[in-house]
Amino acid sequence: MYRYDEFDHDIVQSRVAQFRDQVQRRLEGAITEDQFKPLRLQNGLYLQLHAYMLRVAIPYGTLNSKQIRQLAMIADKYDRGYGHVTTRQNMQYNWPELTDVPDILQDLADVEMHAFQTSGNCIRNVTSDPYAGATSEEVEDPRPTAELLRQWSTIHPEFAFLPRKFKIAVTASKSDRAVIRAHDIGIEIVRNDAGEVGYHVLVGGGLGRTPIIGVTLRAFLPRVELLPYLEAVMRVYNRYGRRDNKYKARIKILVQETGIEDFKAQVDAEYETLDPAEIAVSDSEVARIAAYFAPPEFEALSDEDAEFDAAYKADASFANWVDTNIATHKAPGYAIVNISLKPLDRAPGDITSDQMRAAGDLADEFSFSELRTTHQQNIVLPHVKKSDLPALFKALAAHKMADANIGLIGDIICCPGMDFCALATARSIPISQAISERFSDPARQRAIGEMQIKISGCINACGHHHVGHIGILGLEKAGVEFYQVKLGGDASETAAVGDVTGPGFSHDELLDGIDRLVDFYMSTREEGERFIDSYRRLGMAPFKEVLYGT
Ligand code: HEM
Ligand code: SF4
Repeated sequence: MYRYDEFDHDIVQSRVAQFRDQVQRRLEGAITEDQFKPLRLQNGLYLQLHAYMLRVAIPYGTLNSKQIRQLAMIADKYDRGYGHVTTRQNMQYNWPELTDVPDILQDLADVEMHAFQTSGNCIRNVTSDPYAGATSEEVEDPRPTAELLRQWSTIHPEFAFLPRKFKIAVTASKSDRAVIRAHDIGIEIVRNDAGEVGYHVLVGGGLGRTPIIGVTLRAFLPRVELLPYLEAVMRVYNRYGRRDNKYKARIKILVQETGIEDFKAQVDAEYETLDPAEIAVSDSEVARIAAYFAPPEFEALSDEDAEFDAAYKADASFANWVDTNIATHKAPGYAIVNISLKPLDRAPGDITSDQMRAAGDLADEFSFSELRTTHQQNIVLPHVKKSDLPALFKALAAHKMADANIGLIGDIICCPGMDFCALATARSIPISQAISERFSDPARQRAIGEMQIKISGCINACGHHHVGHIGILGLEKAGVEFYQVKLGGDASETAAVGDVTGPGFSHDELLDGIDRLVDFYMSTREEGERFIDSYRRLGMAPFKEVLYGT
């Protein structure tokens, strides 16, 4: 795992001291809330409906056990005993007191963490594949590239005040678990016909009120050109991105208004003015960073494990959990374990301090002390021996972390909505809970198969409803909440924005409507078809008919 060097330590410590001073001046009334706002936003501190909200960066979703235990301590000491995993792999606290935030930042700094660039119009915390370094699918571990981008973008003086926020995600597998096509820049690490490793660069994806799927800017960017090329992209955006209209300020609008070919020509022209050698990093520096992500020392194991096989045969609940929550590891005899943060009775993505500590202890015992947070708002233990899976399952169950619903209808992405967010037009968490409740029968969930429901409490789309197989958007009219439905969205490598079905629904109508959609799909699906596949085959008309009961 990446370890801070002396520069990182200095930057983080000086930022804590600076912010302590800024908070003190705010508390004394020496600066107004308006003056304080840009300062707090440099440190991930938002002002929400009931309280401040602090968003802690988890670069590329990688955590060690010591860090998650510290996050648990912070949740207990300064918050209400829980945290929230976000769709960009960060951790949010919903109830910190302003006076405590400098101490929280110090406690984070003690375990090499911070809240830089988790808000504001800068390059945000870089996200990646939670299976990085563990999946056999990947061309290479994407985290050294993500770390390179983190170092390049952290307090980059030229890109600290962009027209709008800027999100970058990196993956190295064909299966996209990092939603690179809904990012301002998405990077897929690929190999060309000559066997060289480089970057497929996408630009202009994003959700919000204008959802757009990113398009290819460069099909193959040689490795050495990555930073100079991105620098050129950022310069073009910084210069031409619309600062006159907040809703048109993202790079996706610039790319759309300019056209991808002209945008690319502008980037190429900017690239010509740069001296790539000044920005590009040497092979030895790339190798130095990559060494921090060297794989742990896996034992030489057979992929067949008698203990695992016996438990799988003997215990149906263990077998169901294995079938849904375990992914294939690159090392024989190992597995990638998804821990669901989607139990019936909690908000999707919430994790209690006890669960954080348990996850840390289990990472120590079973996964080389490593954990990941996921875009899907769950946790991953990346490197678990198959023979340890039965014991791990038991331990997770004791902490209510063994729900076997990864990728199923209960694995909902949901934004905070009206329960926490000042911008919300409707509640979203209660909708997700009601859907989970309605489909709580595990056998039915498994029978339905892969299904991604995503819910946002307003048009800002933090809950990714545009790219849900079923997307739900909470709106309000004359004081009454209602819910608009989208179908056919997809956040994966076959990304698509869903289609609006028509007029919205009340809470109860919505649940019955989803029931009918699911029943219809199950009665018409062809062999091996997921909900999204049936929708693509049949189109909107029949689904709309059953949804509206016409
Ligand atoms: C609770 C306070 C929050 C506020 C005030 C807030 C505000 C916003 C706003 C205004 C946008 C639209 C910006 C744009 O498109 O330019 C947005 C987008 C987004 N937010 Fe939030 N958000 C909050 C919480 C969250 C949470 C908890 C998550 C993750 C679970 C999240 C994830 C996202 C994502 C993924 C997008 C859209 C992706 C994109 O940038 O295109 N937000 N948010
Ligand atoms: S989608 Fe709207 S309601 Fe939900 S968190 Fe974002 S801004 Fe708030």
